[in-house]
Amino acid sequence: MNTAPLQGIKVVDFTEVQSGPSCTQMLAWLGAEVIKIERPGVGDATRKELQFDPTLPSYYFLQLNSDKKSLALDAKTPDGKEILTKLIKEADIFVENLHPGAMDKLGFSWEAVHALNPRCIYGTIKGFPVSSKFKDLKAYEPIAQVTAAAASTTGWYEGEYNVPTQSGAALGDSNTGMHLTIGLLAALAQREKTGEGSYVYQSMHNACLNLCRIKTRDQLTLDKIGYLTQFPQYPDGKFGDFVPRSGNTEGSGVLGWTYKCKGWETDPNAYVYVILQRGAKEFELACKGLGFEDWLTNPDYNTADARDRHKQEIIQRIQGFCIDKDKYEVTAMLSKFGIPVGPVMSTKEIMDDETAYDGNTLVKINQGGKIGEFVTVGCPFTISNYQPTYGPCPELGGNTEEVLTELGYTADQIAEFAKNGTTAPMPAAAK
Ligand SMILES: CC(C)(COP(=O)(O)OP(=O)(O)OC[C@H]1O[C@@H](n2cnc3c(N)ncnc32)[C@H](O)[C@@H]1OP(=O)(O)O)[C@@H](O)C(=O)NCCC(=O)NCCS
Repeated sequence: MNTAPLQGIKVVDFTEVQSGPSCTQMLAWLGAEVIKIERPGVGDATRKELQFDPTLPSYYFLQLNSDKKSLALDAKTPDGKEILTKLIKEADIFVENLHPGAMDKLGFSWEAVHALNPRCIYGTIKGFPVSSKFKDLKAYEPIAQVTAAAASTTGWYEGEYNVPTQSGAALGDSNTGMHLTIGLLAALAQREKTGEGSYVYQSMHNACLNLCRIKTRDQLTLDKIGYLTQFPQYPDGKFGDFVPRSGNTEGSGVLGWTYKCKGWETDPNAYVYVILQRGAKEFELACKGLGFEDWLTNPDYNTADARDRHKQEIIQRIQGFCIDKDKYEVTAMLSKFGIPVGPVMSTKEIMDDETAYDGNTLVKINQGGKIGEFVTVGCPFTISNYQPTYGPCPELGGNTEEVLTELGYTADQIAEFAKNGTTAPMPAAAK
């Protein structure tokens, strides 16, 4: 049994860059038919972004658009609008992430699409919620991170590198796509009951803020007591009235830090993360694993609260333990005692790890032609009775004829659309 959860669901995908395409990528991997609308001759901007070869689509595009169909369509022409209208009438989901106001200008707002096809669910990504003073701003990843308190709470907490810092993880882009996916799947389940499509609005800001929930917890605590015991600034440093950056502190009450391991002088990722849990039993095991059994009877260390007050001495001593061992050795030694520990991994180490090619974690997609095989991150969860397959990305407009034929257009009409600039760029002289 390998029934795709979204088999039979048709998605009209008017998205580009990363946030929207990451959502429709997931829908495609769950079995939906995804028809990506791209401007004739232009396509998704990422096709030509940071290419490894100027004649080929970029890895950016390849990694976010597999298993989709591409329909080249100028939605600003009358024929383009007619084609899009027909498509929407057959669609289960319409998704877009153009700049604020662009879809209204094109004539395909939520209200318009809902009137055309009341069953169609409409998914939108914008930078900000409609209530926001920033609602009209265009947005890219870092804009979401800086405006959602992610950047102000990330990075080093003292010295010249005490600057708002962006995460390497796409909290504003792919994370927003995953949030929209949740909303769309909920809307599909809701439609089962109501028979009617709904409007799912997902801002990058709210998706990013949703991952900063614990930072808002810290703000609440700070407002109440004026300090945060888990932060490196505690007990000696000063706190202001907002949550500061905390370096590599663990976000909950456990005492976690990143430690240099053997080889750190030449390898910037020769580090390991070690956590001391708060419970007495776990602490006892940790002391055994680290060989620090004297801590068990020392009141400066043998309670979690005391450890918060003496975290700098603790960090120093654990650092001494790690410095002459490599990160995998430390991981193996400490995990034996149940200590939460993990090596800092580089992208290269992750992608060189053959165990990651388990059919989902990392996947190899055969694009064919000059590109051949490329690696991407697969569907991050597994479903017991469904295994996604991972196929190539479409060429720009690669499915135009097929999609138009299915909509009932004749060969002559399809040829005319290409000639009049609806599905193919107009020759320069004719413009
Ligand atoms: C990403 C973003 C900043 C890019 O802005 P942009 O450079 O103005 O590009 P857009 O694709 O939104 O729109 C450009 C134009 O192309 C048009 N366009 C796009 N696809 C089209 C098509 N198939 N046919 C006709 N016109 C099309 C749009 O209607 C728009 O026209 P307009 O400027 O006359 O309104 C903006 O789309 C945005 O803020 N999106 C919401 C947040 C988001 O998802 N950000 C990306 C995170 S990865």
